[in-house]
Amino acid sequence: MKAVIFDLDGVITDTAEYHFLAWKRIAEQLHIPFDRSFNESLKGIGRQQSLDNILTRGGAASTFTTAEKQALMRQKNQYYQKLIENLAPGDLLPGIGKLLSELKDEHIQIALASSSRNAPAILKRLGISGDFQAVVDPETIEKGKPAPDIFLTAAALLGVSPAECAAIEDAEAGIAAIKSAGMFAVGVGDERSMHAADLIVSRTSQLSFHLLYSGWKRCRERQQTERS
Ligand code: BG6
Ligand code: MG
Repeated sequence: MKAVIFDLDGVITDTAEYHFLAWKRIAEQLHIPFDRSFNESLKGIGRQQSLDNILTRGGAASTFTTAEKQALMRQKNQYYQKLIENLAPGDLLPGIGKLLSELKDEHIQIALASSSRNAPAILKRLGISGDFQAVVDPETIEKGKPAPDIFLTAAALLGVSPAECAAIEDAEAGIAAIKSAGMFAVGVGDERSMHAADLIVSRTSQLSFHLLYSGWKRCRERQQTERS
């Protein structure tokens, strides 16, 4: 294992909750039903696709012009940015600071594969920008999660092969992306939504270098046995 690739929202910090609150406000303005279970399907999905999914759910897919949709996305982002205004180093999810320093001690490379255009600003507010050797710009990625592209780009930026990477996600679309990139997938969340992951933890405080490394190694050994 030469690299660990992180998702941001819901893995490094609890901003997944703020995306939920901001989209909920937009959906309510449009009188479209919005709840936590529907929100699960939006996790990891880019801004434009998220809005399209919400509008489709409300039977309003073709009600808005491109300019109106742009305005809705801008407004969602304003609500979101207001919610993350006071984000600070203390908002790292439990165990993430410790995991980052363990990875540094072990000389494991660290990258970010987040679909969020707000990601670089969030890393800065959390005081961890310097820990990342690569941060993928989602605007340069043609196909978002569940396509593997963002994770493959992270590995390419680090100069490692997908098989040498473990990646951590809290979204079903994210786990699907990691698996189709051929990487070891670590899911944070409940067994039901993370069932496709190679390793599941219910909370970030359970993550450690040792857990990732032993899981990654077991998975690679199993694949080698299957191939021979
Ligand atoms: C992902 C989140 O990380 O980024 C999604 O899981 C969000 O909920 C997406 O919609 C895009 O984020 P942003 O900040 O560019 O609107
Ligand atoms: Mg996430």
